Amino acid sequence: MEVIICPDAAQVGRVGAAKVAQIAAKVGPAVVIGVATGSSPLSTYQELARLVKSGSLDLSQASAFALDEYVGLPYTHPESYHDTIRRTVTEPLGLDPARVHVPDGFGDTQTAGERYEAAIKAAGGVDVQILGSGSNGHIGFNEPSSSLSSRTRIKTLASRTREDNARFFDSIDQVPVHCITQGLGTILDARNAVLVATGEGKADAVAAIVEGPVTAMCPGSVLQLHQHATLVIDEAAASKLTMSGYYKTVYASLPDWQRLDV
Ligand code: F6R
Repeated sequence: MEVIICPDAAQVGRVGAAKVAQIAAKVGPAVVIGVATGSSPLSTYQELARLVKSGSLDLSQASAFALDEYVGLPYTHPESYHDTIRRTVTEPLGLDPARVHVPDGFGDTQTAGERYEAAIKAAGGVDVQILGSGSNGHIGFNEPSSSLSSRTRIKTLASRTREDNARFFDSIDQVPVHCITQGLGTILDARNAVLVATGEGKADAVAAIVEGPVTAMCPGSVLQLHQHATLVIDEAAASKLTMSGYYKTVYASLPDWQRLDV
């Protein structure tokens, strides 16, 4: 796993976007991007939007697949991930809405998982998956104890996730209990994964993802099995890593062709 430790959260957005842009440039304008919601990737999306506007990144034919969605929120509900992705990804990055996909948490949820897997396959798979991590180490909404080979399916949110996400709703009672999420197996199929995390609240999760055992109790640890997984984190999120000095040395000595243009 590649671990890039940035001095602050603003730099995490710039480096996260540069990493995604580097991969997208290699793939070409029809790149397929996996997108997360939540606070962590917002600065990465803002920076990607800036790169698109400045003409240095072409996403004109790009497709996007969201990681997850709440079950039971209408597509236009402001906290539904359909609407969140429209506001934070589709519009700022100028993506064609017809090529932006979010799991269906409001229609026929029984077939939604299979339909989503089929749509990803039809698009040729995800080239680069952007991820955040929950404070409990979840990625997507794969809560601790999720199968490491799971596919897109309905899950029950952990109470810690509902508490963490209550900030987006008027009260915790309004946070849905169920969600539909890409599985850990689905996420592992992405050809590249870029996880962004900031703040002390993520330090335990980051340490478990990078340096802990691969275990269903920390779903993000499955990224240790991925060939091209990068974590872009700030000093606070890195504070519980035991090998941060090594990760900094590795990044500082990257060959020119691998360097990120930040
Ligand atoms: C959301 C998702 C989640 C979040 C995680 C962190 O699509 O996949 O795994 O990335 O809950 O959320 P924030 O970034 O709000 O701390």
